[in-house]
Amino acid sequence: MTPATSPATSTAAKSSQAAPVIVNVALGERAYDIVIGRGVLASLGHRIKAIRPGARVAIVTDATVAKHWLNQTQAALSEAGIESTQIIVGEGEASKSYGVLEDVSEGLIAAKIERNDLVVALGGGVIGDLAGFAASIVRRGVDFVQVPTSLLAQVDSSVGGKTGINSPKGKNLVGAFHQPVLVVADTAVLDTLSPRQFRAGYAEVAKYGVLGDLAFFEWLEKNHPDVFAGGPAREQAIAASCRAKAAIVARDERETGERALLNLGHTFGHALEAATGFSDRLFHGEGVAVGMTLAAEFSVVQGLISNDDAARVQHHLASVGLPTRLQDIAGFSQEGLGDADSLLALMAQDKKVKRGKLTFILLEKIGRAVIANNVDPNAVRAFLVSKLTHKPG
Ligand code: GLY
Repeated sequence: MTPATSPATSTAAKSSQAAPVIVNVALGERAYDIVIGRGVLASLGHRIKAIRPGARVAIVTDATVAKHWLNQTQAALSEAGIESTQIIVGEGEASKSYGVLEDVSEGLIAAKIERNDLVVALGGGVIGDLAGFAASIVRRGVDFVQVPTSLLAQVDSSVGGKTGINSPKGKNLVGAFHQPVLVVADTAVLDTLSPRQFRAGYAEVAKYGVLGDLAFFEWLEKNHPDVFAGGPAREQAIAASCRAKAAIVARDERETGERALLNLGHTFGHALEAATGFSDRLFHGEGVAVGMTLAAEFSVVQGLISNDDAARVQHHLASVGLPTRLQDIAGFSQEGLGDADSLLALMAQDKKVKRGKLTFILLEKIGRAVIANNVDPNAVRAFLVSKLTHKPG
């Protein structure tokens, strides 16, 4: 087991509210800034011009995001004298496919995007993963900028350079590490998210506290109402999450070790997403919330974390309205989730498997996650059977 080092000191309560917060991802010649703040989208063109003078831009987005934010994005670019075209794809996980990747790649070639130009990924995690992957392969790689429009994308998927699409055999199985050259996270764009989408993204915020920073977790326990209400705590929570992720990515860009800690809740979560057909029954962040609770409870079974700490994680996630039990997943009593063996088989297809052994991120305490490489599938099966038959009180 590999101990976690705390990814973020408790900076959450200190950051400024008016000026944007800038978090640098320190990756040497591939280093870049994450710019976080209300209204920072308006500065996109000037920021791009400063790092890539003369670049033309192709914006990749989806119809819903385009409706809310495309005009503002184009205006921010043209204000800086930057020419842009746009490629609009269908919404949702189904767009992370070979077919849509081909459409985006051909669109970039048709728009004559060249090596010195830029792709702007304007959207949530699906758009960032898809557009980033297309940017990584067109002309053997063009640079791209992430403009994340969901909470989940702002605190997780837009940072760190994981890009890709899904294979019919599993999620994110085809992709590349391709770091953006800039991330512009305008927290005002989160105002148009549904409460459910915002909550799902919050699971990834809480994850940083649970895996590596007890003080941040405690701060979230007190300040989550302001994070949800859109007050200054929202920017502070996003900045603290980005600092946590940036620090881990800078130490382990290619996930040879510590970066795997960011997968807390994802081994269970991806299996649950697959068991619900990657449908609206369970958003990715909701799968992470249930998965993180299961990881905490499985850590109790493995003799690591205390029962009280596991209950505290579950309580915090449930208190913001996230699902934490298998029984909370939509359609559980009608359609179920399959049995323990089918969930185990789904986990075995996940990338978090090495030569047949299951890898889990477990907890020694809140704020200290560890990588467990050699988990006995029989122990997981028995645990899942107990959870599938659990009768919520
Ligand atoms: N979302 C996990 C990672 O970027 O490593």
